[in-house]
Amino acid sequence: MDIKTIKTKKSRLDEVDFDNLGFGDLFSDHMFIMDYENGEWKDPRIVPFENLSVSPAMMTLHYAQTIFEGLKAYYTKDKKICVFRPSAHASRMVVSAKRLCIPKVEPEMFLKALTELLKLDRGWVPKKRENSLYIRPFIFATDEYLGVSVSNTYKFMIITSPVSLYYKEGLNPVSLITSGKYVRACQGGTGHIKAGGNYAASLYPAKEAKKKGFTQVLWLDGKEHKYVEEVGTMNMMFLFDDELVTPPLGGTILAGITRDSVLTLAKEWGIKVNERRVTIDEIMNRADDGTLLEAFGTGTAAIIAPVGKITHNDRTVVIKDGKTGDLSHRLYEELSAMRHGEKEDKYEWCAML
Ligand code: COI
Repeated sequence: MDIKTIKTKKSRLDEVDFDNLGFGDLFSDHMFIMDYENGEWKDPRIVPFENLSVSPAMMTLHYAQTIFEGLKAYYTKDKKICVFRPSAHASRMVVSAKRLCIPKVEPEMFLKALTELLKLDRGWVPKKRENSLYIRPFIFATDEYLGVSVSNTYKFMIITSPVSLYYKEGLNPVSLITSGKYVRACQGGTGHIKAGGNYAASLYPAKEAKKKGFTQVLWLDGKEHKYVEEVGTMNMMFLFDDELVTPPLGGTILAGITRDSVLTLAKEWGIKVNERRVTIDEIMNRADDGTLLEAFGTGTAAIIAPVGKITHNDRTVVIKDGKTGDLSHRLYEELSAMRHGEKEDKYEWCAML
């Protein structure tokens, strides 16, 4: 399918202060949009970024039949653009779509749309090393109907946003608190996909965590409230002595692309990698006895986010004296170097534009 392009008459690029970027509050000149009607995706187009006009009865607004992805593009030292693992994101979106009865967008079309959009807005990819262009593909139901049912029409869109680091802590360690009351996901639910509703349900507990001075909630499993799952905006990793442990994907945890990249690098570096269930008690005890050397989160937005403090019930542990650990630092640097074309991309993770 050919993509029709209508370019903006007035670029906003020269109004952007690239030295003071936030996260997700500024949008590039163009967006991609495609409609699903009568059983097929049609009319792919790139148009100036603009508001949508939707019916108040649009189903997504009521029943959250919507999914999204998040990936990033980086400016390389050879003045090219590296889009990090776009095929993995396209495939994950197919998995998300299936669970919410949303018609899939073929990865080929996803990649074509992304490529065309980025070619047009390549000037929006920040040049500063810690910054990037965050890419947000999403699909949402557009039927105008108040019955709870599968929509017959959808839109697939991609918008992009020049961003800096996700957490206000920057590259410094974040603090996490478990929730004794709320859960993020349970078996059979939607915890493994990028469904908008997952994030809506996390807002209230996250607000409580923030009120207590923590960056995020460290989610425990929905059944026994005992095993560590993830953070919602990132997967979790723990370095116990020489063993890197991360909770296994099992239906309640998002299959993070950064998670997968980190596991690949750690294996290459000869680190013992173990995807196994880990209890919050093990983490607290091993922090106390000194065998928890590092904890960090991994995610597209979060990149590698060291964790300096965890609170569970009435107990608090400080990890690595609240400082960034060597492995977290090495992983961050290695990923950055690959993404900026400073190191060989041996796994072919960068799609170069
Ligand atoms: C991402 O890392 O892309 C995420 O999806 C987290 C987010 C909701 C900002």
